[in-house]
Amino acid sequence: MAALLGPGILLLAIQYARRRDRWEPKAPLPPWQGVGKPLGLTAIPGGVRVRFQGAELEAVFLGEDHLRLTWFPNEAVPSYALTEAGETSSFELEDQEGGYLLKTPRLALAVGEEGLTLWDGAGRLLWQETYPERSGRAWRHRVRLLPEERVLGLGERAYPLDRRGGVFRFWNQDPGGSYGSGEDPLYLSVPLWLSLKPAGECLAFYENSADGFADLRGGEALVGFLGGTFRYHLIPGPLEEALARYVRLTGLPPLPPRWALGFHYARWGLRTRKEVEEVVEGFLRRGLPLKAVHLDIDYMRGYRVFTVDEGRFPDLAGMVRAFGERGVRTVLILDPGVKAEKGFTPYEEGLREGVFCRLPSGEVFLGPVWPGLSAFPDFTDPRGRAWWGERLKGFLDMGISGFWLDMNEPALFAAWGEPIFPRSVRHSLEGQGGDHALAHNLYGFLMARASFEGFRKHAPHRRPFLLTRAGFAGVQGYAWAWTGDVESTWEGLKATLRALLGLSLSGVYWVGSDIGGFSGNPSPELYLRWFQLAAFTPFFRLHSARWTRRREPWRFGEEVLDGVRWAMAQRERLLPYLYTLAHRASQKGLPLLRPLFLQGGQPDGAGLEEAFLLGSDLLVAPVLEEGARAKRVPLPGGGWYPFGEDRILQGPKWVELPAPLKRIPLLVRAGSILPLLEEGGLSLHLYPEEGGAEGGLYWDEGDGEGPYRLDRFRLFPVEGGYRLLWEGEGEYPWPWEGVGLRLFGRRLWGAWVEGKVFPCQGERVLLPPFREALLEVEG
Ligand code: NOJ
Repeated sequence: MAALLGPGILLLAIQYARRRDRWEPKAPLPPWQGVGKPLGLTAIPGGVRVRFQGAELEAVFLGEDHLRLTWFPNEAVPSYALTEAGETSSFELEDQEGGYLLKTPRLALAVGEEGLTLWDGAGRLLWQETYPERSGRAWRHRVRLLPEERVLGLGERAYPLDRRGGVFRFWNQDPGGSYGSGEDPLYLSVPLWLSLKPAGECLAFYENSADGFADLRGGEALVGFLGGTFRYHLIPGPLEEALARYVRLTGLPPLPPRWALGFHYARWGLRTRKEVEEVVEGFLRRGLPLKAVHLDIDYMRGYRVFTVDEGRFPDLAGMVRAFGERGVRTVLILDPGVKAEKGFTPYEEGLREGVFCRLPSGEVFLGPVWPGLSAFPDFTDPRGRAWWGERLKGFLDMGISGFWLDMNEPALFAAWGEPIFPRSVRHSLEGQGGDHALAHNLYGFLMARASFEGFRKHAPHRRPFLLTRAGFAGVQGYAWAWTGDVESTWEGLKATLRALLGLSLSGVYWVGSDIGGFSGNPSPELYLRWFQLAAFTPFFRLHSARWTRRREPWRFGEEVLDGVRWAMAQRERLLPYLYTLAHRASQKGLPLLRPLFLQGGQPDGAGLEEAFLLGSDLLVAPVLEEGARAKRVPLPGGGWYPFGEDRILQGPKWVELPAPLKRIPLLVRAGSILPLLEEGGLSLHLYPEEGGAEGGLYWDEGDGEGPYRLDRFRLFPVEGGYRLLWEGEGEYPWPWEGVGLRLFGRRLWGAWVEGKVFPCQGERVLLPPFREALLEVEG
């Protein structure tokens, strides 16, 4: 990457790599040593402390279905990922041959001679590990994997969703240039895994931010961390519940502003206000529903963060206002590096306030990034976070709607070796002190937290919109994530879907990718297929590198533009459904993007990533192969309607559906009611199964914390048709003219509300708000 920036940066990158190698001599790990057998045990609130030769284990139940295990000695690191300390729960303790048994109604833990075994309340085996080993500050252990067990999660990975067979590193890293399948690690790691097996599913979360690894090549998982606290949490399945539990533990994703669910445009290399205006105009003139434009580093003066180049972007506030009047929000990129330049205010201020990371010598650490040598705020220091948050005020006052947090692995330019800080760089870690080896994986996450807190403080009436590249467990409480600089190839598209689903299965629900891939020039077909996938992922954004050809949708010919229009129109239509999912995620911690296995009962031979669900009702079958005009779709159990059609396909089974260039197959779960925007109002699409259908809607002003409404719709079959009940709660008035209904599976004649008949107009009937409606169907 550095070479693309010219000789100045290249020189800095060489100098930096030399310095880093000097600072960081490679020392081999001392030999690994086991902890031996348990020697005795003491009861503590919620659990026990078990003594070993030179080590101790603390096992504590934080609720009946949550076990926390911590090994000592360790380097304590603040529990940044956890939003609640958790209440300890009561348990029973029994002596057993060669050990002990600890039981709650939902879990049973055996502390044996050689290791730990955990069962659920029904006696199903969840977890079996041998006691760990230590090497200096590092810990590792082995967890048995059953032959049929699948391992999912582990954060963002360009690797098949079932991680068995791979070796992974927990270390946030910019792959540099662009990545394809198999690249590891990537920007955002989450040390969490889901074990999917016929009996006894469970979730394991390692609350450890140090450099870690998971080797899943054999019949056991070898998992370790080169420092920090060796602490992990075990939660029994079903997996969707376990994931929701984990998300509640580490931070629910806040309800985003509604505009953020629309289409976003970004492009690195738009050098002037005029160029940005032309693009925005291009979308609006063609009636393409653009909701946000992101400004990449080009808006800054010499890439200095918190500046605007007034020459190239005169009156940015005026531009932001004018876009806002046309319904387009502006989002600005922010990089953490602050140019180390005498007289540059943020640098001088940061120095004065002592908020930058330092070397062990006490000197401020400087590393090369876009603006040249830069200092980096220490986000593990509450003062550093507050200082950063203050810097957002000017932009928020100007009407900026969100921030895009980049380069926060943190990434540097290094001519060779790891493009990161030396591990010896010091961090505050809330005052207790520690090195970069412990803080590295937390950096992006805490940058997101600092930005979130600053946003809340300076724009309390708006919901923060933040997008981050790096993160750690819990980042979902502050920011959305995108999958970074993926290559513009079909492989890149597949890697993207894997990364998105992996993030979703790691609690990071608001995710998206650069449509078309970041670094190259997608063919028109690849571009369109990527667009179609992205329209059904939570974050929907077009972005590309400055050395690529421009890729606004109208640059690929009429056919592609038509296809893009279809994808964008579906996204717009689905807004009420998506917003309702957003609300549910923010309240209950349920995922938006869901691999099919969460729905249960896939057909034989179905991989985990050929199709996915958006919420629990919409099945999306993206086309990932060049030239394909049909798609074999693995339907989960139950009935599925092709979107907008009357026929039901019964799963679990494989079906082949048409996938012409301009469309991908979408299916709706029989038994669901989808709220959609249609003909300027709200329509309910009723997709009944035998017993009827059910659905909900969340709606409010779209931003801020004002009143809301939650509607619930239930459809029951009755003689001659259906009965539809509508219950609502909340203070927000129904904002549409009545409600439209469309019924699938049978032909709708009309509907009765309070003794009055409303005939169907075309395929839709428009009703005034009601509590009960009777639908009359043909035959
Ligand atoms: C790297 C980011 O991943 C990319 O999206 C961005 O365009 C460049 N940095 C330039 O800011």
